Amino acid sequence: MCGIVAYVGYRDAYPIVVEGLKRLEYRGYDSTGVNIGNNKNFKLFKTKGKVSDLELFVENKDVTGTISIGHTRWATHGKPNQINSHPHLSGDGRLSIIHNGIIENYDSLKKVLIQKNHVFISDTDTEVLIHLIEEVKMSENVTLFEAVRLALTQVVGAYAIVIMEKGNDRELIVARKGSPLVVGVSDNEFFVGSDASPIIKYTDEVIYLQDGEIARLNCDEKIDIKTVDDKKVPLNIQKLEIKLENIEKDGFPHFMLKEIYEQPKSIVDTMRGRLDLRNNEIKLGGISEYSNKLINTKRIIIVACGTSWHAGLIGEYILEDFTRIPVEVEYASEFRYRNPIVNDDDVIIAISQSGETADTLAAIELAKSKGATVLGICNVVGSSIARTTHEGIYTHAGPEIGVASTKAFTTQVIVLILLALKVGRLKGNLTLTEYHQIISELDLIPDKVRKVLKTNSQIELIAQQFKDAKNFLYLGRGYNFPVALEGALKLKEISYIHAEGYPAAEMKHGPIALIDEDMPIVVIATRKGNYEKVLSNIQEVKARGGRLISIVTEGDVAVKELSDYCIEIPKCFNELTPLLTNIPLQLLSYHIALLRGCNVDQPRNLAKSVTVE
Ligand code: AGP
Repeated sequence: MCGIVAYVGYRDAYPIVVEGLKRLEYRGYDSTGVNIGNNKNFKLFKTKGKVSDLELFVENKDVTGTISIGHTRWATHGKPNQINSHPHLSGDGRLSIIHNGIIENYDSLKKVLIQKNHVFISDTDTEVLIHLIEEVKMSENVTLFEAVRLALTQVVGAYAIVIMEKGNDRELIVARKGSPLVVGVSDNEFFVGSDASPIIKYTDEVIYLQDGEIARLNCDEKIDIKTVDDKKVPLNIQKLEIKLENIEKDGFPHFMLKEIYEQPKSIVDTMRGRLDLRNNEIKLGGISEYSNKLINTKRIIIVACGTSWHAGLIGEYILEDFTRIPVEVEYASEFRYRNPIVNDDDVIIAISQSGETADTLAAIELAKSKGATVLGICNVVGSSIARTTHEGIYTHAGPEIGVASTKAFTTQVIVLILLALKVGRLKGNLTLTEYHQIISELDLIPDKVRKVLKTNSQIELIAQQFKDAKNFLYLGRGYNFPVALEGALKLKEISYIHAEGYPAAEMKHGPIALIDEDMPIVVIATRKGNYEKVLSNIQEVKARGGRLISIVTEGDVAVKELSDYCIEIPKCFNELTPLLTNIPLQLLSYHIALLRGCNVDQPRNLAKSVTVE
C-alpha cells in the first residue's frame, strides 16, 4: 500500500529517492517523508500530502548525503499527518525505518516496550517496530542486522522495511514478508523500491527479496541475505525486463489516458507467441504442467478483487461457454474467511494486476492448504501471487500506474479467452471451425480497439453533459453485465460520482425506482448480446424519463433512436464484445473525472495495490 524507496552509495541520495517516490506515488499519497544520512547525522523531513508537498517543504534546506530512505504513505494506523508519516525513529534517534505493511501484534509489542520505558510519539505500528529493533539491539548487544532478524521473529504481520543507522552511511538493512521489495544492485551502490520503477533508470540487475528474508546492503562488502530463522540465502540476481519509457507518461496528460490508449498494443503483447493463427493453435506455456489438471477438473473457482474480479466474471461466462466446466467467481476477501468448500481436484484461478493484493494472496494460501491447484493471471512479473501460485499466465500489459485499472482488465479478459479456447478445444467442446473463427476474430481485436478509441472526442462531449450528475446506473446483460459493473467502478473511483452496475433485467426488481430525468443510464446494447431483451429494458428506462447513453454495434437503429447519446463499436463476436464495450466506459469516466477537477491518476483514499486487508 505504501511506497518505499532507498539508496546507499556514492551519489547524492535525495534526488534519487524523491524521483523514486514520485514513481511510487500510485501506491499511496497521503503523506511523504525522507531521511538522509550525512556523517553522524540524520536529516529527517516529513509532511502531510504528496511528494510535491515534500519538495516544497525541503526547499532551501540541506539535503546532501549519500544514503537516504523515503516513503509515500497510505494510512493504515493513525491519521495521515506529519507525525504518523514515515520515516520513523527509534527512541534514541539512532535508527530510522520506512515500512509498507501492517504489524498485526503491534499493540501487545507496544505494551511490553512501554513497560521498558519506551516512549512513542506517533500512532503507528511502524514506530513500534523500530523501537523493538532498538530494544533487541541494546539488550542482546548485537549488530543491527542481527537485531532486525531477532526482532522480526516476534512480529506477526506483513512488512517490507528499510532501516538505516546514524553514523553508518554505507549500509541499509532491508527485509520483507508479504509486502514487495526489490533491491537494485550496481557497483558500490544499492537501490531499493517497492517495485522496480525507482530502480530501472540506474540498473537492470535486481534481487527480488523473498518472504521471510533479510538483507544487509553494505557498499563496501558483498550482499548478505538470510532468513528470519537464520539460514543463509544464496544470491539470485535477475535482469529487469521493463524499460524506463514504459513507466513514463509519454506525452499523455495522465497515466490513465496513456494506459487506455496502450490497449491495442497490450492486447497484441498478451497474445504474442500464444495465438498462433497459422497453425490454428493457442500456446500457454505458463500452465503446461497443469493443463491436464485443468482439462479434467470438475470445477474452477476464480478469486480476485475489484476490477480483476470483474474480469473473473467474464471468465466465468466464457469458460463455462467453451469448456462446460462449472465456474464460480469469488471475492477473495470473502472466500478467505468463509470456510469455502475446496477439493483437491479443484482448480483455482487467482487474477491480480499487481500480484500483491493481500486478500487474493490469502485466498490462494487457503486454496493451496486444501490441496487445490492454483493458477495465477498476473501482470507484474515476479510478484507475490505470480510466485505463490503453482503456475500461471502473465498478462504482459506493461506497467499500469494509474490507480484505475484499464489495460490490466482488458488483458486479463484476453488471457481468460485464450484459456477458455484452449481448454474448450482440448476437451472437444469447440469444433475446429468454431475455434478457428473465434481465434481469427481475436486477431482483429487490436484494430477494432483502435477504432473504438477514435470515439474519444465524442465521449468528451458526452462527459460535458453529465459531469454534474450525482448518480449513474450502468446496465448490461450476459458478457456485458460485468462490463457494466466495471464501468460503474471506474466512474466511482475517479470521479466520486455514485454509480451502480446492474444486469439490465434486474433493474425492474428495484433500481428502476431510482430512474428519473436526473439519473443518467449507461446501457450496453450490442447486437447478439440479448439485444431484443436489452431493447425492452431500454424502453422501460425511457418510459420513466431516464437520460440514456448507449453503447451499440455499428449500424444499430432501434437503440440509437431511443438514446440521448450513442457510441458505436465495430461488429464482433458476442464473447469478445467486453474487449470493445469497456473502452468507451473507461474514456467516459476519465473525461467526467477530468471535468470535475479530480485527480485521475491518484484518486482520493485509494492506492494501486491493496497489500492490507
Ligand atoms: C480498479 O480500478 C482498482 N483500482 C481495484 O479495484 C483493483 O482492481 C483491485 O484492488 C485488485 O487489484 P489487483 O488486480 O492488483 O489484485
